[in-house]
Formats: sequence, C-alpha cells, structure tokens
Amino acid sequence: MRMSLQAFAGISLGINSLSAKALKANAFNGYLGTNPKLNWDAFLSQIIALAKVQNTKLWKEAEYLAAVKNILLQCNFPEFENVKFAMDNYKNNRPDLFEHTLLHTEIDFQVSLFQFEKGEYISHHDHPEMCGVINVISGEMDISNYSFDKNVGEKVEYKNGDTSYYMQPCILKKQKNEILKAGEVSILTSTDSNIHEVMPNSFAQLVDIFTPAYNSKNEKGTKWFYVKEKNYLEESDKLLTEYFVA
Ligand SMILES: [Fe+2]
Repeated sequence: MRMSLQAFAGISLGINSLSAKALKANAFNGYLGTNPKLNWDAFLSQIIALAKVQNTKLWKEAEYLAAVKNILLQCNFPEFENVKFAMDNYKNNRPDLFEHTLLHTEIDFQVSLFQFEKGEYISHHDHPEMCGVINVISGEMDISNYSFDKNVGEKVEYKNGDTSYYMQPCILKKQKNEILKAGEVSILTSTDSNIHEVMPNSFAQLVDIFTPAYNSKNEKGTKWFYVKEKNYLEESDKLLTEYFVA
C-alpha cells in the first residue's frame, strides 16, 4: 500500500514530549493568537508531523519541502505573538552582522528568524545533510544557490604571524539565482543547491526552517567558502573558492 508523506505523518503524529512541552509553553505565553487554524502552534504541529518522517523509509525530501513551502505560504509570521515580539524587540546588536532569533528547535527541525540591516549578508556556506526552506518576511533578498563541484589542487598553507592554517581550493557550481520579495520562498535540498549566499538589498527579515536542526555533527561539518572576486568564472557558472581544512 502506498501512503503519502502527509497521510503517514497524520497517522503517526504522536508529538514527542519535547514538542508537547513547547506547545504547552506557547499556549501559556499567549502565542496561540486569534486564528486557531493557523496560529503558531498549529503551524508548529504541522511541521512536527511532517519532519518526524525523515528517519523512516517513507521520507521523500522533495515532498516534505513542497509541503513545508505550502505551509509557509499560508503563514503571516508577524501575526504570531512570538515572532511579533522578536521583531518589536529587534536591536541591531552586532554591527555588520545579521541578528538571529531561534524561534523553535527540536532534533527534527528548527525555525529561525533572521533580521538584516542594509549591507549585512550571509556569505557562501553549506548545510551538511540538511534541507531548508527560506521565507522572506520583509524586504528583498538576492539568493544564489550552488552545489559543490570538486576540490581543485592541493590545500594551501597561509601564515598568520607564528601560526598557519590551510585552505582547500574548490569549485562551486551555480544552480540558481533568485530575487525574492516578501512572501516568497527559496528551497535548498540536502543534495542539490545546498550551498547558498543570502544578500538582502535593504533592511530585511526572513524565517527559515532547517531539517534536521543543527547539531554538533552538522555544525562541525558546515563549510564556509571564501570567494575572491577575481575567481569568478562567469562564463561557466562556476565559482572558484576555498574553505578551511585541518
Ligand atoms: Fe544557510
């Protein structure tokens, strides 16, 4: 018998204790809002049900991402009390760096709010064995996605005073470039377009959902790619860059 991801998720929905605790806490803190069909907890419950399938044979990442995208498109995040609170209390605490608020996390997934001042951005990085959906809430963002192509040459030693470090040159292949406005969504999968660069054009906000959540393994495995302008190979949509190696 074939069963869709959503059907399976619906049947197997047994919110784990962490999730149940989070939902209870949300209710206590007044996060439920006025629309019971799509308040914060209803939103969270849907993602919990979908994300828990990731460790079963029924997992289909593309279906999951499409379902999450569909849920995100129905959300008006500033109407959720906890998101509104984070937005209302926004302070630009880190000059030249975005502000990050973790809205919810559990093993299966995490939901974050990012707020950028004009000129702040997130440079090229990957998300090992994770997939993500990014929903622009305000402003406009130029998001480029890449896939890892290959390492090129040997690692290079750089000296910094008495210490040295090594960088591995590699090529990234550009997969897509999107200019996203408020309400629009960008997707990256665990195998395709997993590397991205996020460049807001002005003050901007986004909510993203990453599956699974960050943990010690994927945090340690994350690569940040350093690009030199002269290394753009525009004619081939390939980008020569380098990342830290031990
Ligand atoms: Fe990212």
